Amino acid sequence: MTAKQKLLSVPHLLGIEGLTRDDAILILDTAQSFVEVNSRQLKKVPALRGRLVALLFFENSTRTRLSFELAAKRLSADTLNFSASGSSVQKGETLLDTARNIEAMGPDLVVVRHEASGAPWHLSRVMSGAIANAGDGQHEHPTQALLDAFTLLSRWRRTAAQGLDGKTVCIVGDISRSRVARSNMLLLKLLGARVRVAGPATMLPAALADVYGVDVYDDVDDALFSGDGVDAVMMLRIQKERAARAVMGSDDDYAVGYGLHRERFDRLHAANDGIVVMHPGPINRGVEIDAAVADSSSSVILDQTENGVAVRMAVLYLLAVGMARTDVGSAA
Ligand code: CP
Repeated sequence: MTAKQKLLSVPHLLGIEGLTRDDAILILDTAQSFVEVNSRQLKKVPALRGRLVALLFFENSTRTRLSFELAAKRLSADTLNFSASGSSVQKGETLLDTARNIEAMGPDLVVVRHEASGAPWHLSRVMSGAIANAGDGQHEHPTQALLDAFTLLSRWRRTAAQGLDGKTVCIVGDISRSRVARSNMLLLKLLGARVRVAGPATMLPAALADVYGVDVYDDVDDALFSGDGVDAVMMLRIQKERAARAVMGSDDDYAVGYGLHRERFDRLHAANDGIVVMHPGPINRGVEIDAAVADSSSSVILDQTENGVAVRMAVLYLLAVGMARTDVGSAA
């Protein structure tokens, strides 16, 4: 650790809730320094050499899992890869017993994705390493929100300290079951953005406006076009794995009513030719977003994935330097 290294105010990244604006700025600024590392021919720094990062994925993942693994490797850490499928969870082993056995192998950092909200918090009580939440149930997906904010700041050529003042971001979709929406509402507001959320009434939890300070619409066109309009739109997948069939209509009805289809996008682009289109993935093309829109020059979907590596390097690095028992090398 360098003498000037700033520390997060929290020992674990369990959610955006609990982070200060300074914490968010520290993570985003540190991620910026790792973008430079990732642009080098030799994309590796020795910061976590000799450290062990356990990647515990009890739920499916492509982007989060691979980018956390790549982040750990670029920091020169060793990795333990666990996925519930193919593990002894299939034989009935509990989360607690799984955690105790992995703890016995001595991980310094533990990345966890789990279908149960609060699972990372429980692990933080029984494991000695620092925990990074890689998505827990309907609760939070903090590194997704951080990489989304990083992507917006990059697109708008702003520093993290400058924040998102004066910008309006609209999140569209299954707000009630989306951990991405929850973490983004918290972080975008923390960084100064105005936030609108839109979706079918069955996908909008009560008291959103009061709890998160966002503007709530059950008509997506009102959300996108009323007032001064929006600067970015974040389309979300319907969380079919978490939704009761009763709250969902057909995919075709959803696409017409709430999807970012070509006609809606053309209108949006005509209103603001700098509109930024986001999606955390995985995409259901033709449902919440048309293929032509996802692949358009307004889309930053693959930038989000690319930035996820630098952001997760920053999270692993800062959690490691925050651990009193860990003496960590320089990020450079
Ligand atoms: N955005 C996201 O969490 O994607 P994965 O489920 O593929 O990790």
